[in-house]
Amino acid sequence: MKVKYTGQAGFIIETKGKTLVFDPFISANEKMANLLKVQDIKCDYVLLTHGHQDHVLDAEMIAKQNDAKIISNFEIVSYYGQRGLHGHPMNHGGEWTFDFGTVKYVNAVHSSVLPDGTYAGNPGGFVISNDEGCFYHAGDTALTMDMKLIPMTCPKLDFAILPIGNNFTMGYKDAVIAAEFIECDKIIGCHFDTFEAIAIDHEAAKDTFAKRQKELILMDLGQEIEL
Ligand code: NI
Ligand code: MN
Repeated sequence: MKVKYTGQAGFIIETKGKTLVFDPFISANEKMANLLKVQDIKCDYVLLTHGHQDHVLDAEMIAKQNDAKIISNFEIVSYYGQRGLHGHPMNHGGEWTFDFGTVKYVNAVHSSVLPDGTYAGNPGGFVISNDEGCFYHAGDTALTMDMKLIPMTCPKLDFAILPIGNNFTMGYKDAVIAAEFIECDKIIGCHFDTFEAIAIDHEAAKDTFAKRQKELILMDLGQEIEL
C-alpha cells in the first residue's frame, strides 16, 4: 500500500488499484496547500472519520471533482447526499466489502458536528483489510478500552494511524497504550503540529514508543511511504 500524509488526520492511500482519501484538510493548511493542490487530487473514495472542519474541509470538492464515493457514518453520508454527492453509509461495528477491501467502522471517543452546525452522528475510525494488508485509521479519539476489540474482531493490523497531538485527542503517551491494545507495532502518528495546541516533541514521542518496542513514524507533509 502507498501511504501519503496530507496533514492533520489526512492521508491518501493507494491499495488494490484504488485511491482512498482520508479526512482531507489541505486548503487551510498553508504548508500542505503549497505541496498539493486540492483540485489535483484524484481518488475513488473519500473516507471521513467524523464531521469536524479539520477532517472534512476539502471533502466535498474532492468527492465532486472525482465523482468519488463518500464512506462515513449515516449522518455524514446523508449530509453530503443532500448536496448531490453519493456515498456508502455505515455505523459503528458494521462492516462492508468494497472493491478495494473490507471496511469496519469502529468506535472513537470524541465529538462530532459538521462545520455548519449539522449533527454529524458519533465519531469513528476505520479498519481496512484486503490481501495487501490491514490497517486502522483511528480518527480523533481518546484512548479507549474499545480498542481492545479490534484485534479480537479484525485481521492482524500491519500498521495503524493514531492521533498523538494531545489536547483534542489522546497524546503520544496514551497512544502507545492504544498501540498495545490494538496489538500493532508500527504506528503512524497524526493530528500533531498543525496548530500550537497540538505541537509535540518528536524525539520524546518516538522514544516513548521505542521503550515499548514499537515504532512511531512521523511523516513529513506530502511524504509518501510504501507499507
Ligand atoms: Ni475532531
Ligand atoms: Mn480533529
